[in-house]
Amino acid sequence: MKKLAVKIGKVTLKNPLICGSGEHFIDPSGVKKALNAGTGAVIIKSVNESEAAKEQLAKTDYALLDSNFNRLDWDFNPPRDASLFNRSGLYPGSFDDWLEFAAKMDRLAAEKDAYCIASLIPASIEKLVEYAKKVEEAGIRILEVNVGAPHGDEAAKGAILLEKEASHIKTIVSKVRGAVNIPLWIKLTGQSQNIPAMVKSARDGGADAVTLMGRYMAFIPDLETGKPMLGTHAAFGGPWALPLTCHWLVKSREKIGTNYPMMATNGARDGHDIIRFMLSGASAVQMTTAVFTAGYDVIDKSLRQLEEYLDKKNMTATDLIGLAADQVKTYAEQENNENYWRGFVPD
Ligand SMILES: Cc1cc2nc3c(=O)[nH]c(=O)nc-3n(C[C@H](O)[C@H](O)[C@H](O)COP(=O)(O)O)c2cc1C
Repeated sequence: MKKLAVKIGKVTLKNPLICGSGEHFIDPSGVKKALNAGTGAVIIKSVNESEAAKEQLAKTDYALLDSNFNRLDWDFNPPRDASLFNRSGLYPGSFDDWLEFAAKMDRLAAEKDAYCIASLIPASIEKLVEYAKKVEEAGIRILEVNVGAPHGDEAAKGAILLEKEASHIKTIVSKVRGAVNIPLWIKLTGQSQNIPAMVKSARDGGADAVTLMGRYMAFIPDLETGKPMLGTHAAFGGPWALPLTCHWLVKSREKIGTNYPMMATNGARDGHDIIRFMLSGASAVQMTTAVFTAGYDVIDKSLRQLEEYLDKKNMTATDLIGLAADQVKTYAEQENNENYWRGFVPD
């Protein structure tokens, strides 16, 4: 299976499918199922020190929607084009319990040539640094810090830091970098038009890789009741988000060059989406909603789709990285075709 292996800085993943953080990785059972299904890595449900962020988990709600914003059954068999509208909280237990769980899962993952990655969503920077040190001391091999959780602006004040200012990211990252030596991945918000600058800022602060990009906040009125669906604003994601993430992957690659590892999140539903993200410059892909809403079989199916594609093209996973990104042309460089546009105009 060498064909599927990818490198993220000094880390080699046996394949580019990473199960992104979510409620299915609060307990060992979900993590074990994902590892058994062959994932390259699992990102454990995020934690921080805020009681409000923990309590928020008891107030979560989830709506799976079709393209008319009608609710679909939660039957673990969603159509490919379903979107997920939801609010979420963080790991509900103590940090010490979470740490013990994450360290145990990473040891288990190592037996399967995989990784379980610790995930911190900061509330305060002081605690972030303290927790990062503890993650390293516990023997966990990789740390992801998500500074772009979409719920930041809606959650209780101080519960979740959502950083949209590029220059602040370097400051936060360098504090964590100064405290730990393990590979440090930084997950960024998608709610910005300045994503390439954020990527540069994370790299300059010492991050080994970045993850692009968190979901969007949304508001959906319910036609039946005239009320807000789920009662409030919530994060929104779907396969439609994939091209938006790809756009920023390509733009970020243009800004920082081809050697800096980026991971994609937001929109991957199957193996073909993993390929799309990698062609746009991602070295690996975090898939969350697909597994959360359709179960762990998605992992094996996606890896098989990826392998079939690579066999057909006689390529390795690494060959895919940035292939489409590096062939992008400007509008001005496109072929001239006078009056061609008329064929698109209705009579
Ligand atoms: C129910 C749910 C819970 C999530 N919890 C976390 C979390 O604790 N930490 C985190 O970094 N991202 C979290 N995310 C974000 C996902 O990991 C992922 O980045 C996002 O959903 C976009 O990818 P997707 O289209 O594959 O779902 C969560 C997403 C969902 C749907």
